[in-house]
Amino acid sequence: MTWKQMFTSSVGKKLVMGFTGIFLILFLIVHVGLNACIWAMDNGLMFNKAAHFMGANIVPRILEIGLFAGIILHIVQGYSLELQNRKARSVKYAVDYGNSGSKWYSRSMALLGTLLLLFLIMHIAHFWVPSRITGLNEFEYNGVIYHDLFNEMKVVFTDQQWGLPIVILYVAGCISLAYHLAHGFQSAFKTIGVTNKRYHLMLSSLGYGFSIVVSLAFAMMPISFYLHWV
Ligand code: HEM
Repeated sequence: MTWKQMFTSSVGKKLVMGFTGIFLILFLIVHVGLNACIWAMDNGLMFNKAAHFMGANIVPRILEIGLFAGIILHIVQGYSLELQNRKARSVKYAVDYGNSGSKWYSRSMALLGTLLLLFLIMHIAHFWVPSRITGLNEFEYNGVIYHDLFNEMKVVFTDQQWGLPIVILYVAGCISLAYHLAHGFQSAFKTIGVTNKRYHLMLSSLGYGFSIVVSLAFAMMPISFYLHWV
């Protein structure tokens, strides 16, 4: 397959979706693991140190550029595939099998992805922009200056006026993530060929488990701040 076919043919587009999807899954594992440090009950010190490592080190910074490129590629190819499928589906089937052929969320990947995109725009504005562009409160610990990202999360999620609506939007974003991953996880591995009939059940169970655990852990973060558990 040529580079051009990779971005223009349906098989090529599916492959790009699969590879970028797996890259984004790896990012989510790192992100949820790092963020779980908020529960260390040390007023955010471990979390701020981990976030500092990610922000100050050259390798994660290069990966961050790859991450944004991966997200954009995943979105562009996703919409392009959806358009292509809609055109192909414009001739209706004689019999509509409704939900018996596939699950609603596997037929709604573009919608779930759009909800995630809206969530991401809000999320990047809340944390990434202050962290990298507009500036955050800082503190010194053992001679090192750290961004107080933990406090920024507290400010965002416990705001008197906007805290509750923001927490609700974050939880809604995590629910969209759960359903997007419930189909996307196994689909990505199947597309790149990492499956066969024998491992099908294992891969789908792993996909469902991953979607639930990761999305639930993310959803508990804004809730924990809002309820002052951290
Ligand atoms: C719901 C709980 C979540 C919390 C509390 C949270 C928190 C954060 C924080 C504090 C940052 C800034 C990191 C830094 O600048 O060093 C960040 C960045 C980011 N988050 Fe989240 N996040 C959550 C969920 C998600 C989800 C579900 C996604 C993806 C679907 C996501 C995608 C991103 C991206 C793409 C970045 C920017 C890349 C980076 O600098 O690491 N986050 N998040």
